[in-house]
Amino acid sequence: MKLKSRHLLGLKGMDRNEIEFIFDTALNFREVLERPIKKVPTLQGKTIVNLFFESSTRTRISFELAERRLSADVVNFSVSGSSVAKGETLKDTARNIEAMKIDMVVIRHSSPGAAMFLSRVLKSSIINAGDGTHEHPTQALLDMFTIKEKFGKIDGLKVCIVGDILHSRVALSNIFGLKTMGANVAVCGPRTLIPRDLEKLGVKVYYDINQAIRNSDVLNVLRIQLERQDRVFFPSIREYHLYFGITKERIEKNNREIIIMHPGPINRDVEISADVADGSQSLILQQVLNGVAVRMAVLYLLGTQN
Ligand code: CP
Repeated sequence: MKLKSRHLLGLKGMDRNEIEFIFDTALNFREVLERPIKKVPTLQGKTIVNLFFESSTRTRISFELAERRLSADVVNFSVSGSSVAKGETLKDTARNIEAMKIDMVVIRHSSPGAAMFLSRVLKSSIINAGDGTHEHPTQALLDMFTIKEKFGKIDGLKVCIVGDILHSRVALSNIFGLKTMGANVAVCGPRTLIPRDLEKLGVKVYYDINQAIRNSDVLNVLRIQLERQDRVFFPSIREYHLYFGITKERIEKNNREIIIMHPGPINRDVEISADVADGSQSLILQQVLNGVAVRMAVLYLLGTQN
């Protein structure tokens, strides 16, 4: 089997077989990550450039580790210290880097569509590591892989994405992926942070966090993305925590098992209280570990299928 595209731009349109194929491949790499020597020669001779125009801790380190563990040659680009600071365009930067004979580009950018744009102007395989408020496909793949690892399935599970849905690329990629995999998907947050017409994607909307908790197997809790908000969407951080924060009291009142996930970075005691983030039902660090395996799978499948 092969993936249909030589790029990973988003999960919209990716079919169930392809997602299962990535999970099966990631499972093999999870085993590699448990070995004393966590390295395989699979992408030896391939050169991958990580083009990060926005801040990142997890995604950037996770991709770099995945690339190095597949034995690829890795080049890291960041805006500060580059010719972007002198006014060079994304297209010129990317085409100049590609002229140095590279094979794949991993891009994070604040503009929705940046990864799609590169796929049209470069010959290399492009992987979207987050484009503005659009998609973050490898985050959703690792979230779903973690859910499947925990429950043995995704089909029929009730997954609720909580928080700033309006500005979240993680939410959109999760909605596309989870729907494809047969989950019952819901979102919960203040009315001002839920896009209009979201129900048209087949998603249930809760405005009451206690109702969302009662009706979910998994909560995927999102950060309030203040850096993407050009106006005030709720009265205060304190009030947000009061009405939508995932707290120990709310989880215990529910009296049934519920799994807590978060793509990071966490704002402790804003969208999630510290004791829940660090509690036994939290899979947050498991998500981070699985991220390396899932990214190894994506890089391997795109880097070897041509
Ligand atoms: N989850 C995620 O994308 O985190 P970073 O912004 O740290 O990469």
